[in-house]
Amino acid sequence: MESLELRAVEPHCSISEMGDFDLTRALDKPRLKIERKRSFDERSMSELSTGYGRHDLDMAHSPGSRSIMDTPLSYVRNSFEPHPMVAEAWEALRRSMVFFRGQPVGTIAAYDHASEEVLNYDQVFVRDFVPSALAFLMNGEPDIVKNFLLKTLQLQGWEKRVDRFKLGEGVMPASFKVLHDPVRKTDTIVADFGESAIGRVAPVDSGFWWIILLRAYTKSTGDLTLSETPECQKGIRLILSLCLSEGFDTFPTLLCADGCSMVDRRMGVYGYPIEIQALFFMALRCALAMLKPDEEGREFIERIVKRLHALSFHMRNYFWLDFQQLNDIYRYKTEEYSHTAVNKFNVMPDSIPDWVFDFMPLRGGYFVGNVSPARMDFRWFSLGNCVAILSSLATPDQSMAIMDLLEHRWEELVGEMPLKICYPCIENHEWRIVTGCDPKNTRWSYHNGGSWPVLLWMLTAACIKTGRPQIARRAIDLIESRLHRDCWPEYYDGKQGRYIGKQARKFQTWSIAGYLVAKMMLEDPSHLGMISLEEDKQMKPVIKRSASWTC
Ligand code: GLC
Repeated sequence: MESLELRAVEPHCSISEMGDFDLTRALDKPRLKIERKRSFDERSMSELSTGYGRHDLDMAHSPGSRSIMDTPLSYVRNSFEPHPMVAEAWEALRRSMVFFRGQPVGTIAAYDHASEEVLNYDQVFVRDFVPSALAFLMNGEPDIVKNFLLKTLQLQGWEKRVDRFKLGEGVMPASFKVLHDPVRKTDTIVADFGESAIGRVAPVDSGFWWIILLRAYTKSTGDLTLSETPECQKGIRLILSLCLSEGFDTFPTLLCADGCSMVDRRMGVYGYPIEIQALFFMALRCALAMLKPDEEGREFIERIVKRLHALSFHMRNYFWLDFQQLNDIYRYKTEEYSHTAVNKFNVMPDSIPDWVFDFMPLRGGYFVGNVSPARMDFRWFSLGNCVAILSSLATPDQSMAIMDLLEHRWEELVGEMPLKICYPCIENHEWRIVTGCDPKNTRWSYHNGGSWPVLLWMLTAACIKTGRPQIARRAIDLIESRLHRDCWPEYYDGKQGRYIGKQARKFQTWSIAGYLVAKMMLEDPSHLGMISLEEDKQMKPVIKRSASWTC
């Protein structure tokens, strides 16, 4: 079965098909190490509140452009002891590449020819391309990333409508597709901004990922010319104007509809989902590092600084849950009026679900799924918590506590296949009400407590940042025992994540790329700088290695 499926996909070019010339060239060429100096992203919020001068942009130089079909450098470098999955993964990643007029512009979501239903998995999704982009950057192949950033920037300029309603100018697409006309020999693009998406929801996360990726590209290559173009500066500003606009909000968090991020179906995450809040925070910090303080940029810089202060305060205080906080909420009084209220959002202690009391270890904590008036979603979401660590939305103590929780609740959160998208699942009556009886999101499946291999790269990055690489190693071992054999599924089902997901695609690109990124980061932790932001300088984090697993 496995070999049949593997044969069903035709690679553009496998390693063995490449001429001797290519291979020797790749072997001869030592990896140009990108010197990762402290650079532009470390402009601190506090410095900025006093003056907006940017730090010297002392970026290192580009590792040079390599042919997209070259042998992956990480593979060459490890030729003494490469895990066989690494070469397979590179081959599969290259097979998923999408070209527009001869130039690589992205990777399709899944190369699964065995599946009857293609749906939109043959499209380049913005969020799905992020791990692919990081893999290419880490391997010294920035061109595809640059092309992607420019292509999506062009798409941002399109007029977007859902029926008769015009969407905000800054919205980035959820996905796009290249149509090749073999007769006319032309390539055209169709894009989806939510007007075709199931449920018609705009992808709030796309713009944030775009900004985060632009910074990763700049950091990795040292090429400042891209982010400094008037087009990119405008693109950043347009995204920001969507989420910094003033309205009726009483919170600094961003109000969203259900289904506007990786969890792109109704899963009860409407309101202020942690995934969006963490990405929002990270994108604001990345934008702050890249915006030029010119006439148009200065106003945005000021707004970002103010928002970051308010957002970090709100998140660190009201979204944070640990044993102590849980006990406090359990004893909350309700119906308090005025400024002296302790229970500001009027959370009813009776709404605390039973599972949290058992789940919460004495040591450890996490950012809960959502906080809004009289509503706290106590579920754990992996992406939001990992991005909170990477962006330094979490304080150093909170980051440590998140990792402690992961260690304590390994069976529940990681199980047999890293990593649960959220914990726990919802079932029965609650499932009916919350998901609207979604047959894909049944208990412990897909977005409802399913296990997603793509999350491995974020977990690994968070582990490295908090000085606990051994946790990542353990997760990678689990992935290596199955992912290739199972043909790189999109997700796994079950309480332990043991079964290939009911409707999971095979050869899901971000499962493949996520594995490669995790491997490369662990091998060379300096890659972390692309996707991680240091704590604001004034807070001076002291991150110690914890006394966790030593295996
Ligand atoms: C599913 C996922 C979404 C992903 C898409 C393409 O819809 O929920 O996050 O972007 O598949 O892989």
